[in-house]
Formats: sequence, C-alpha cells, structure tokens
Amino acid sequence: MNRRELMQAASAIGVAGMLPGVSLAQAMTEVTASSFPEPSSVRETLSLDKGWRFHEGDIAFPVPIGNSETYDSTKTGAAGGAAGIAYDDSQWPVVTVPHDFVSFQPVGKDLNVAQGFRPRGFAWYRNTLRFEEGDRGKHIELQLDGISTLATIWFNGTVVCHSTSGYMSNYIDLTPFVVYGDVNTLAIRVDAHAMEGWWYEGGGIYRHAWVIKRAPVHIKTDGVYAFPVKQGEGWVIPVEVTLNNMTGDTAAVEVVSELRDAAGAVLTTAQATAQVPSLDDAVARLSLSYDTPKLWSTDAPNLYTVHTKLMQNGQLIDESTIETGFRTLHFDAQKGLFLNGNHIKVQGVCNHQDHAGVGVAIPDALWAFRLKKLKELGVNGLRCSHNAPSKVFLKLADRLGFLVMDENRNFNPSPEYLDQLKWMVRRDRNHPSIYLWSVFNEEPMQGSEQGAEMVRHMAAAVKSLDRNRPVTAAMNGGMFEPHNVSQVVDVVGFNYQQDKYDAFHAAHPDIPLYSSEDTSAFMTRGEYISDRDGRHVIASYDDDAAPWGETHLAAWKAIAQRDFVAGGFVWTGFDYHGEPTPLTWPANSSVFGIMDLCGFEKAAFYMHQAQWVKDRPVLWLIPHWNWKAGDTVRVMAMTNLDAVELSLNGNLIDRKKADPWAMNTWHVPFAPGRLQVVGFKDGKAVAKTFVETTGEPAALKVTPERASAAGDGLDVLTVRVEAVDAQGRTVPQASNACTFEVTGGDIIGVGNGDQDSAESEKGNQRKLFNGLAQVIVQTREGGAGKLVITARADGVKSGTASVGLTAAKAWPYQAVTGTVQALPEFHLSPVSSAPGAVDAHGERLRAGSVPVAAKGDGYVTAVASVTPYAGFAAGGKLVFNRVLGEVSVSVDGKVVGQKTDAAEGRLEAPLPAGQGARQVAVVFKVRTGEPFGLPGKAYVMA
Ligand code: GAL
Repeated sequence: MNRRELMQAASAIGVAGMLPGVSLAQAMTEVTASSFPEPSSVRETLSLDKGWRFHEGDIAFPVPIGNSETYDSTKTGAAGGAAGIAYDDSQWPVVTVPHDFVSFQPVGKDLNVAQGFRPRGFAWYRNTLRFEEGDRGKHIELQLDGISTLATIWFNGTVVCHSTSGYMSNYIDLTPFVVYGDVNTLAIRVDAHAMEGWWYEGGGIYRHAWVIKRAPVHIKTDGVYAFPVKQGEGWVIPVEVTLNNMTGDTAAVEVVSELRDAAGAVLTTAQATAQVPSLDDAVARLSLSYDTPKLWSTDAPNLYTVHTKLMQNGQLIDESTIETGFRTLHFDAQKGLFLNGNHIKVQGVCNHQDHAGVGVAIPDALWAFRLKKLKELGVNGLRCSHNAPSKVFLKLADRLGFLVMDENRNFNPSPEYLDQLKWMVRRDRNHPSIYLWSVFNEEPMQGSEQGAEMVRHMAAAVKSLDRNRPVTAAMNGGMFEPHNVSQVVDVVGFNYQQDKYDAFHAAHPDIPLYSSEDTSAFMTRGEYISDRDGRHVIASYDDDAAPWGETHLAAWKAIAQRDFVAGGFVWTGFDYHGEPTPLTWPANSSVFGIMDLCGFEKAAFYMHQAQWVKDRPVLWLIPHWNWKAGDTVRVMAMTNLDAVELSLNGNLIDRKKADPWAMNTWHVPFAPGRLQVVGFKDGKAVAKTFVETTGEPAALKVTPERASAAGDGLDVLTVRVEAVDAQGRTVPQASNACTFEVTGGDIIGVGNGDQDSAESEKGNQRKLFNGLAQVIVQTREGGAGKLVITARADGVKSGTASVGLTAAKAWPYQAVTGTVQALPEFHLSPVSSAPGAVDAHGERLRAGSVPVAAKGDGYVTAVASVTPYAGFAAGGKLVFNRVLGEVSVSVDGKVVGQKTDAAEGRLEAPLPAGQGARQVAVVFKVRTGEPFGLPGKAYVMA
C-alpha cells in the first residue's frame, strides 16, 4: 500500500485577564504594500496590474483553409483569434491582478480533491498598452511574476513567451515589438488544466505584472548580486552587476555600488568600468568592504541596501537597489545550525500560498498579515513548499526575520527545467533570509543512482550562481539505499521518517540533518470532539496525525531532543484549499494547519507558542466552557511557564508542574461559570486566562486587523467578525449567517475556516464557523477619510468598525487604453469641388501609412465600413492618432467631428450608438501635390 492509498461560551476563549505580553502581536517593522517597487529617478517601474480583460474558458483559434490564408496566418504578428491584435474583447469583464479565477468557482464533488474540488481549465487575459513616442529608444520589459499554471503570451500578435511553470516569473523584452505613440496588444492564454502540484494552485495571473522602462544600456533584471561574506574580522560584499546593451555600439560605462544603512547614509563605495558589447551582456565585478555592520538575525533583522548606479559619460543612466543583510550560517552535523555563531533551532512551518477568500491571488498586505501571525506564533523558519514564493514574501521575510528554505518546483535537470531553478536562484540570492536551496520534495527517484545524478546536476547549477547557502532536498525515503540523494546534497532534509533520525545519524555522523517536513496532524479550529465521518471535524487536543506523520507535540519533541537535528518545518502553518486529508467531500480544504484558512488560531497555535516563545509568558486554555450538566470535560492548558493552577468558579482544582512536552491536561466535571488557569514562573503568578460559560449570541463584533490603512487601492485588511453574548463574550460555537457591508473600500474575499463549507468565497455573506468569520477588505486608490465595515445577522445587533485611511500614493501604472478596434482600411474618392461626395471606391488608404499627395484642389473623402465591437454598440469614440490635413468626420452621413488645422494632429470624435455596419467618412480638404492622409492609426474605443 502506498502512502496515498493509506489516506483515505460557555466560553469566551480569550485573553481576558492575561497579563501584558501574553500572546500579543509583536511590534514589527512597518511594511506597506506600496513600498515595494524599486525607487529610481531614471528607470520606470510601472504596475500592469490594471485593465485586464478576462475570459473564462478557452477560445478556439481560427483554422485557416485557403492557401494564402494559411500563408498569412503563419507570419510573425499574425496570431489569430483571441491571441491576435484585432479581437472583440470589449464585453469581457475587466479585472485587476493578482487574480485567481479558480477562487471564484463553486466547489463540485466530481472535481479534483487535491485542487480543492474547484474547476480550473483555461482562461484568457488581454490588455492594451500604450507607449509614447518618448519611449522610443528605451529598453521595455514586461514582467509577469506568476501565472498558474502554463501560459502562452503574445504581444502585438507575436508569441513572446511560453511560461512553463506557474511558480516562475517571466521577463520578456518587448523592445523590438513595441509600436510607439500607439496601442499595443497583450494576450495571454492560461492553461490551468495542467497541474504542477497536489494542492490548490488556483488559476490565472495571480501575481503582479510590471512594465519596466530602462535606458538602452542598463542593469538587467535580477542583475545585481551582492551578498556579504565574512572575511577575517571584517566583511566584504562581492558585487556582480550584469549589464545589457541594446544599442548598435559597444558602450563604455562605469558602475558604482554603494552600501547604505537603513537611513540611507552611504557607508562605503566601490566602482568599476565595463565595456558592454552591442546587443549583448557584460558583467562588472566590484567589492565593497565594511567592518562594523549590525548583523541580520531572526530576532534583529537589520537590513542595509546596496545601491548600484550605472553611469555613461558622467550621467546616471540606470540604477538598482537591493536589500542585504550581514549574517553567517553554519551547519554542524552534531550540533545543528548556527546563525552568526549562535545556535538556532529552526522552529519552522511549511506553507502553500493561498488564503481564504482570495485563493492564490494574495495581495502584498495579506502576506504581511500571514507572516506577522507566524512571527507571533514563534516561528523563525519558513519553507516555501513546494515552489518559489512571490517577491514580496521574501522581502517580508527579510524584514521580519525568518530563515527561508527556498524550493524549486520541478525536479528535472533538463535545460528547460534547469532554467526554472536558475531563475529562482538568480532572483532570490540577495535575500539574507534565504538559508537553504531545496531542489525537490519527496521524489520517487530519491533512492536511486539516477535521482542522485539529477540532484548533482541541479546542485551544480545552483552553485554556479550562489555558493553562500547549502543545497538540500526533502527526502521521505531512500536515504539508506546504496545510491541516494543524501550523498550529493550539503544538508539532508527528512520529510517525516522521525524514527530514522538516529539510525541515519549513526551511519552518517558527518551529514547535517534537519526535518524538512513533519507533523501532518489534524485539527479543526474550535472543535473538541472528533466526528470525522459526520461533521468532518477533528478535536483540538492533538491526538490525530496522518499515518506518515506525528502529532504536533510528538513531532517537535523528536526534533527538540536531538541536537543533531537542525530544526524542523511543521506541515503546515496555515490550512490551505485542497488536500483535505483524512476527510472526504464536502471537506475541501486541509486541516493540517496550526491556523485555519483565515489565520485564526487553532489549539496547535498555543502548543507551539508554548514551546517556541521564550521571551514572554504564554498561557492558554481549551476548550470553551459551554457544556451541559453531567459532562466531564477534557481541559488542556498550554504554557511555557513552570507551573499551572486550575480553578473552577474560584475553587481550586489542581496545581501542577507544567509539562512542556505533553502540555497539561485535566478531566473536569462541568459546572457553568469560569474555568481559570494561572501560570507561575519561579513561584510567582505571572499570567492568567480563563474560559467562561456564555449566553446566546446577542451582537456581532467587528475587529479590523489594524486601526488605519493606506488609501492607495493596494492595502488590504483582514477583519474578524464574531458573535458575542449580552456581556460581550465571544460565543464559541456561534454559526450566525452574516452579511457584510463596506464603505470606502471593497470586499475581495470572505472565509471562516470551515473545511466543509461550500459557500462562495466572494460576495458579502458568510456564516460564522465556531464563532468566527473573516472579511478581506481592500482600500481604494485616492481613498481618504475612513473605511467602515458593518456586519449584520438576523436576530442580533449588528457590529461595525471603522479604519482610518491615510493618504498614500498608489504605484505608478503603465498606461492601458481598454479595448480598441482598429479602422485599418479606408478607400478614397476622387477629388471633388465640394465636400460630401462619398463615392469612395478608389485608392486604398491604410491608417498608419504614409500620406498621399493630392491630385487636384478640393475635397477627398476617405470611407471605412466598420461593424463596431459589441461593447461599442451603445456608443464609443473614434480616435485618429495622427491626421494630416483639414478634415471633417462623419458617421452614417452625420458630421461628428472636425479638425480645422491643416497641420498633423490627433482627432477624437464620438461614435453614436447604433447596430450593425457603420460608415465612417473622413473628408480631407486637399491641394494639388500636397500630402494628406492618416499617418497614425485609427480606432473605435470606449
Ligand atoms: C507530504 C507532502 C506535502 C503534503 C503532506 C500532507 O508528504 O510533502 O506536500 O502532501 O504530505 O501530509
């Protein structure tokens, strides 16, 4: 049997009465969504998140039949159908990315369980980018941070990229294709049928999109590699700057790198010169030295920046800023991991990249929320399972202080896949947070000669780009085979296999070992009696784990008690959509999380917090205290203190020494009232908490994650909604059906952590699950004043809360025009003495072609017939980008616009509402031999 076959208030649980410092979110570096694009005075980093037309499902390509039709269709720029330049997408809805179209889908019983029972399939996205004449000569790059799963990308009707993994970015040089002073079409076909994982992967353009405009001689994307290395008593930062030159001549340039402190003060500088050949790359190498940095660590994540300037003839032409941190890392096969010479046990969690309500389309601020929750839990290590994370995730990890195991998705050293691995290392190698490169997770070939050989090749590819971190692989078997992957990695990761730690270490005392994955325990938030087959819930006492895993407490004990095991990664920090093991339909999300899908704490949160947090008291008590007379209730207190004292309604039940490994359990006959636990340190009471019998829900309480948000259209807040009784105590099992209303912002998703829920994650409704629901709210661009969130449910008082909006600029956006329909072809009339003749069957005039010379004095009419796209039937706009001559424009005989100046200029005129084919006539006033015409394109647009 293989592993997959094996699978088949009473209480206000609250902190009331807790002493300060218990379970409080730590003060952490302020991270705002709008702080991420690299600031620069010379390069433009423009967001392309807006203006995407979206179509769910596939669109067949037109099939050419005739010979010349076939000939034409194979030419560059001639992509047909929705891939092409001319396509009616005017009625497709406009979406903003990050966008996960799968998260909008209902769950369905017959769909793939691992992907969360949601339909995936194909989709199309189109956008229209406008570049100005002034952009000519710049290097223009499109960056797509992540599209799930596979994608083909066309720009102006030409394929510019095949995206081969949903977890990799694509950087596409658009420069040769751009039409300046005009509209450019971008079309993307997404194939989310393809699966790269056995978890929820969503579908669509689910990370950011960017357009970067740089000088023709410039620093390439991910082109600065600067990682501090300790040398003797001091530090050096070897800086490697990869440059590109798209001009026709070799460029002589100077590269200057500065190390700056957090306040921006320059600490040291280095410079080098380089010759960059035409249409080629060159690498400049510099070295920065600095002897007295504040070190980066998980407790004090001190950051610096390396600011690199590219100069040509004394002028700044490009620049790049990366964040960096000074730290040393060392694995000792006997004693584990050392960060800056200090022993550190990795208290890590594995996570996928989805959240309630939004699927994989996680706004930057939601990443901040998730990582701050993990910090509060006492986590110091993150495993990006099983793929490279988003850029913002790593920036946050640097800033908040986590050690990150960065993981490659596809185990395959063939060139195309090796490119994915190399892209990841190149993008991520500056982050001080990254401490391990992982080339795979649980690969069947791990115990074979071929598997080892494949890893050897992949490790070499990693080392060719970064020699500062060890290469690892997450093995769940094969480590005792004669040929296996543990022989070719620097550090070996064990997924589960905890009973083999000692045997492996005894056989290979020189190979450093850590737990790349463990636990896989089951727990449902707020449930205390398991009912696997009925309600699909699993109790919170940490009794249940997958056959290949261990409970939370047992798994950590096995790691914590062995010095040679350099820490571990719990499967998982948060629940995720899909993989509802061991539950079956309708369960559609996992129950492995220390937190649920919304980031609400399960009991496991406090178990780990009690074991991982050392700098403040942790004390928590489960279950709730809404039972019935005659029940004997299993009570558990989690603490990092020395002793605990339990009392019910003021009567002492027990005082005992706290057990750090099993936590502290009693069986207490239920009586309504208050069950309280007091925690002692060195004999002194330092913390207390209690659960209380509550009444029925009387009101809803709304608690936004923060008191203020940036009014930039990017910031996002999670909002907790709960039911409280008449005395304001959270009612633990409340399941009120709520509706939410937000003014000054938009709801982008809702959730409640219920693994069985078939409710939509979009819209403004959600039931509470065990007392709680979450609303995810996004601010609006230019938002000011406040954002107000109201929750209502039948029979209880509604709850409301407001969040102050602070003025904040949104990112600069790439100009997009919305759907355009080209008027490509006009026909000219002969010259007539009076305007109005429309007998235009003569010479062809293409919009965008060179002007024609007039063959006489008088008037020439250019006529085009157009059937406007469906979206323009109610009216639109005619746009003539460049018109040479004095003209009047009419539609179906009615004059709609005029240009009285003969010099070349732009003309816009209304297109009146109407159905079917329309006749657009441009009447030119002409003079013999003088040029006139439409040197620019002409369009219908909204
Ligand atoms: C592991 C695997 C994870 C997840 C987990 C569930 O073996 O690496 O991706 O499937 O099992 O227990």
